[in-house]
Amino acid sequence: MTRPLSWRARTISASPTVSLDSRTKELVAAGHDIVSFSVGEPDFPSVPAANEAAKAAIDEGFTKYTAAAGDLRLRQAICEKLRRDQGLVYRPQDIVVSNGAKQSIFQALAAICEEGDEVILLAPYWVSYPEQVKLVGARPVVVPTEAEDRYHPRVERVAAAVTPRTKAIVLNSPNNPSGAVYTEPELRALMDLAKEHDLWVISDEIYERLVYDGARHVSPATFSEDAYRRTVVVNGMSKAYAMTGWRIGYTACADAALTAAMLTIQTQLTSGASSVSQMAALGALRGPDEPVAAMVRTFDERRRAMCAALNEIPGLFVPLPEGAFYVFVDVRAYLGRERAGAAATAGAECAAAPREGGAARRVFHTTDELAEAILVEAGVAVVPGEGFGVPGALRLSYATSMERIEEGMRRLKRFFAAWE
Ligand SMILES: Cc1ncc(COP(=O)(O)O)c(C=O)c1O
Repeated sequence: MTRPLSWRARTISASPTVSLDSRTKELVAAGHDIVSFSVGEPDFPSVPAANEAAKAAIDEGFTKYTAAAGDLRLRQAICEKLRRDQGLVYRPQDIVVSNGAKQSIFQALAAICEEGDEVILLAPYWVSYPEQVKLVGARPVVVPTEAEDRYHPRVERVAAAVTPRTKAIVLNSPNNPSGAVYTEPELRALMDLAKEHDLWVISDEIYERLVYDGARHVSPATFSEDAYRRTVVVNGMSKAYAMTGWRIGYTACADAALTAAMLTIQTQLTSGASSVSQMAALGALRGPDEPVAAMVRTFDERRRAMCAALNEIPGLFVPLPEGAFYVFVDVRAYLGRERAGAAATAGAECAAAPREGGAARRVFHTTDELAEAILVEAGVAVVPGEGFGVPGALRLSYATSMERIEEGMRRLKRFFAAWE
């Protein structure tokens, strides 16, 4: 007899990016040379100031529980950062340090949502948002954006999605996966809408430092006193400081009741973040900015190289993304259209299952199928758009070396040439 699991266990899907990563690792372990464009973390070492501060923390025995909301010095440094970079004034008691932005978003949703509430997400969205919304008993309401708008929001569509059950909007700019950096007028219009319907806004600003070509990240909490009070700003150390493994994120929120609720949830879940990681975060925030700036410059070069190569593939039009470290490629031109099967899709050196005489005739209907074929036949790991709410696109991360980008692009060109 099987003992049934909860509705939570039954309704939540595994993260598609994590599953793909496991599949890629299996192929690599079996001896295949896979170029991975599926990673969601910088391929740089954590900034030196973080490593040094963590070592010092261990040597000084700073290895016990901290205040559940985070060490006061770290919360002060976060306040300084928010004031310096975003022009946002918070007090340390407005900050809750967590084990990553992912946990911070969950705690915000758990503190805000009642069973049956609706939370508006803009697609493409980060894969965890809908699952977290479902985990807290609420319903994700997805508002699409368009490739031809470079995945910027159409505010009238968001307005049309609001119902009496709508409780919150999740915003993510710079966006994973599209790289869109929402403009100030777009964000202002969304905040006006939030005010009109009295909604919470969860603003995930984790890619805030990774912007290019003069694009400017603006926190919607800066627009007015009202915007400041209804916004939960979410950020963390993972992306800007290449500190994914340290697991430090945080919320900044001017609403004392909401902050207290998020903190109470955290005290019952984790008691707070690792003391050593908190000191690493403090070191990074107070350390020199140059390693971050250098990383951004390198990402910028790779972004240009990847987009230029993708634009040489017939049928793909890939505008330069404005932020983050992903290119979100509209591949609808290759779906539902038979691959002629003439060209060899990959050399035997890179394909996990190279086919004699070239690619088989085949029609791909979804990017799940297409990404699987790209992995197995071309030896390139890309993330299908289904998990981001956009079934006609693929996400490619350029958080890998220029050499691997060039090799991966050669393989992709051969793969797509089989349609010609
Ligand atoms: C949009 C977005 N938000 C949050 C996170 C989670 O960050 P953390 O490592 O701080 O949990 C990620 C990580 O990929 C992300 O892409």
